[in-house]
Amino acid sequence: MPAIMEKKIEDITPYGNEKAKKEQVKDMFDNIAGTYDMLNKTLSFGVDRLWRKTMLRHLNKTGATRILDVATGTGDVAISIAKKMKKASVMAIDLSPGMLKVGAEKVKKEGLENKVTMKEEDSENLSFETGQFEAATVAFGVRNFEHLEQGLSEMHRVLQKDGRIFVLEFSKPKTFPFKQLFKLYFRYVLPAAGKLMSKDDRAYRYLFESATAFPEGDDFIKILEQVGFKNAVCKPLTFGICSLYIAKK
Ligand SMILES: C[S@@+](CC[C@H](N)C(=O)[O-])C[C@H]1O[C@@H](n2cnc3c(N)ncnc32)[C@H](O)[C@@H]1O
Repeated sequence: MPAIMEKKIEDITPYGNEKAKKEQVKDMFDNIAGTYDMLNKTLSFGVDRLWRKTMLRHLNKTGATRILDVATGTGDVAISIAKKMKKASVMAIDLSPGMLKVGAEKVKKEGLENKVTMKEEDSENLSFETGQFEAATVAFGVRNFEHLEQGLSEMHRVLQKDGRIFVLEFSKPKTFPFKQLFKLYFRYVLPAAGKLMSKDDRAYRYLFESATAFPEGDDFIKILEQVGFKNAVCKPLTFGICSLYIAKK
């Protein structure tokens, strides 16, 4: 029997092959921007907030003040950094104007316009100077990059020497019954609930497909090292449903 070719993360797209992955990802997040926060909260039972909190706890220990939040979406990571780290200023970038618009309203409502700047940027081609930031964060974003290594290389470039990168991304639990429950929930429950609530048929099937294809754990650590990061570690969270990666320039 011929081996079934596993798809690379770059080949997993929301809407097929009609446009480049980047365009499709932008369209998809523009489509779901209005329901993204509500869906996140409901479908993750609020656990996603704990994961972001864990990342923030580790970031806070670095005492960084110039921070880049990549794929900020509706800005939850950037807002929580600005609230917790009093001296920090956050440059929050994303591809999707729709997500950024929701985020900018939240930043304004929190009175954080002086600390958080929301900007439309592509992580694979950042406009910032080399070595400009002390730390970079990206939560549930790297899975969506069209060129994973290029996006990570750009984050590496804009960090100062010894600057830290913090990456949160889904991973697959390995043990019974979490492995089975994860598959059931991500494959069947999430797409059905997502379709009902966001009206985007593909968005939550794409979530399952991209989370499944993502090179997690040691594979992602290798990629971080290939683009120049050092001392990369992976911390599995909540039975391995999510992982936090930390590395140094
Ligand atoms: C699942 S959302 C995560 C948003 C937010 N970080 C959070 O934790 O809720 C993924 C985001 O990645 C953004 N994205 C995907 N590819 C990108 C790229 N190349 N450059 C910048 N943002 C990108 C999308 O537009 C989307 O807003």
